[in-house]
Amino acid sequence: MQAKIISTGSYLPKKTISNAQLESLMDTSDDWIKTRTGIENRRISESENTSVLCGKAALDILKKANISASKIDLIIVATMSPDYLSPSTACLVQDYIGASKSMAFDLSAACSGFIYALSVAEKMLSSGNFHYALVLGGEVMSKMIDWNDRSTAVLFGDGAGGVLLESTDSIGSFISEDIHSDGSRGLALTAGALPVTNPYSENHLTDTYLEMEGRAIFDFATRSVPKSIEAVVDKASLTLSDIDRILPHQANSRIIQSMAKKLKIPFETFALNISDYGNTSAASIPILLDELVLSGDLVLGTGKKIILTGFGGGLTWGSMLIRI
Ligand code: ACO
Repeated sequence: MQAKIISTGSYLPKKTISNAQLESLMDTSDDWIKTRTGIENRRISESENTSVLCGKAALDILKKANISASKIDLIIVATMSPDYLSPSTACLVQDYIGASKSMAFDLSAACSGFIYALSVAEKMLSSGNFHYALVLGGEVMSKMIDWNDRSTAVLFGDGAGGVLLESTDSIGSFISEDIHSDGSRGLALTAGALPVTNPYSENHLTDTYLEMEGRAIFDFATRSVPKSIEAVVDKASLTLSDIDRILPHQANSRIIQSMAKKLKIPFETFALNISDYGNTSAASIPILLDELVLSGDLVLGTGKKIILTGFGGGLTWGSMLIRI
């Protein structure tokens, strides 16, 4: 059996916050944010938590596919900003959409989460034991960041997106993948620290906000991701000229410019929507994919070859070459 992407969807909270609005909250400027990152606006959730964003994205996906939630066998939510450590966000989504027969779990790989989740779901569907799988990436990053730290607060946004996979005995969507982790560099990006604190411990509660060595992450992404893109193309015995679009994690438009330069391909090969949403971590790739499908830039079932590529906390990074 193989796995095939049959529908996409997304949900974004309604509240848009512009760079100019952040100027009244912290010492920053529209010009600094735009030129350093490419971000102009981001969506911020006023009350909807990650499971609700994911649940609404899931309903959008199912509606477009005209498939009832009761048919879903598997739900994976990639997130670094769950509602709770337990229950998982995926279990909350299962209940929200009424997918009562599905197996549901969360997957933690920060901004690479959607790539990791797609890879896992593809293997599970290929086993023949699952027919329909919802693979979602959703984040409320606004609850993870320190709003007094201008070096991170301006970068992130909230949102959710995902795809519906169906198992098939004909040709599936997944051609090749290249996925990595490097825990030795994990402390370059941390969030939600949970130190041992109890009546017998020496620790006191510490700061749990997202902390990032921005420059180190920038260098890591521009070094590792182009190699990973080349790896999936090589594994498929293709060349970069066979690829219609690359959908990169939306962390910083300058990172994507540097990737295009290293790969010697036009910047336009990379799809971009960071100016509207900022960095939505695990949600950024599926939100972008859904936008491209909605605009008609990508049409499901045409067989065009695209690459999804993510990178982030863990450290984690990875690419998938897909027939859309
Ligand atoms: N507004 C104005 N000035 C600022 C701001 C701000 N929001 N933030 C930082 N500055 C200042 C700094 O204080 C510094 O001032 P100084 O020179 O007086 O010390 C100056 O701007 C330059 O700061 P740098 O950190 O060197 O700026 P840089 O050009 O490296 O850009 C950025 C920072 C945008 C964070 C960049 O390093 C980056 O994009 N890194 C990658 C982030 C990323 O990709 N994360 C993805 C993973 S996220 C995940 O997995 C959850």
